[in-house]
Amino acid sequence: MTDPSALTAEAVAAIGKAQTSAELERLEVEYLGRKSGRVSKLLEGIDKLSPEERAALGKAVNESKRAIEEALSGRRSQLEENRLADLAETEAIDVTFPGPPLDRGHVHVLTQVRRQIETVLESLGYQVELGPEVETEWYNFEALNITAGHPAREMWDSFYFSPELLLRAHTSPVQIHAMQRIKEPPIYIITPGRCYRRDAPEATRLPYFSQVEGLAVDKGLTFGDLKGTLLYMIQSLYGRERKVRVRPSFFPFTEPSFEFDVSCGICGGMGCKSCRHKGWLEVGGCGMVHPQVLRNGGIDPAQWNGYAWGFGIERMAMLKHDVDDIRLFYESDLRFLEQF
Ligand code: PHE
Repeated sequence: MTDPSALTAEAVAAIGKAQTSAELERLEVEYLGRKSGRVSKLLEGIDKLSPEERAALGKAVNESKRAIEEALSGRRSQLEENRLADLAETEAIDVTFPGPPLDRGHVHVLTQVRRQIETVLESLGYQVELGPEVETEWYNFEALNITAGHPAREMWDSFYFSPELLLRAHTSPVQIHAMQRIKEPPIYIITPGRCYRRDAPEATRLPYFSQVEGLAVDKGLTFGDLKGTLLYMIQSLYGRERKVRVRPSFFPFTEPSFEFDVSCGICGGMGCKSCRHKGWLEVGGCGMVHPQVLRNGGIDPAQWNGYAWGFGIERMAMLKHDVDDIRLFYESDLRFLEQF
């Protein structure tokens, strides 16, 4: 017959050496298994013993069970502690380790160019004035001297919601809003903003684009003031070597009216492929504010006069960065946008 305390010592030693919980489970079955466990087997032949011997053996077996159970649970928690300690070491996060660089967005090239234009003109005392993109027919056309049925309306083929309501086709309606709001000249404002025209998207035009309008109303303004302002703006944005020229044109809201061009930055005005051998690049329209437009804005043209201009921001950005297709600005292709 096996001695219970010897079996206990053997079990406790084996449990102490176990390295995994699977091993512990196996030992538990081996020693404490209900029928064929080695501790239960100690009781084999107990019926042949005297009552005193029986009692003594029963007690010894119970003690052995208790001791082995205690050893098992002790070793179990020890193994768990070790596992956690190992984890802490192998899976530890070093918070001082520099992380992977984050992809940060940046300001869209059109916004950059718009801000540069604003900064230059603000330095001359112009203030930014914003207007609605949904306009009435009166602000978009009538008030700007573009009467119904006038052939010039074709220049601004527009998106209508109703006969009276449309998406503005240019930023010029903000001239009228500004005069009505400020009332008393002098007025020096610029109005950057989105415009809409019924054009199919192609390399040089889109059905939506942005303009910057400028309006000055004061006493005794001359065309020289207008041209000087445009020259200052263009040279501030593109460099002192750039020249500005104007060509007679027609807008119902200015008289006289002009288109203004900038000398080509690639050939310096000599003529090259990028300016189609003209030496000049078209930028926008300008002129002296028509007296009727001042009147429509509530300003007396006998006392005050003004000049105005308007040009596309996309066009300015194309000239600045030699971009040859306006659609690129709106395609959200990071390979393009990340260059700026
Ligand atoms: N509004 C005109 C356009 O969109 C541009 C312009 C503005 C011309 C101001 C003259 C004066 O074409």
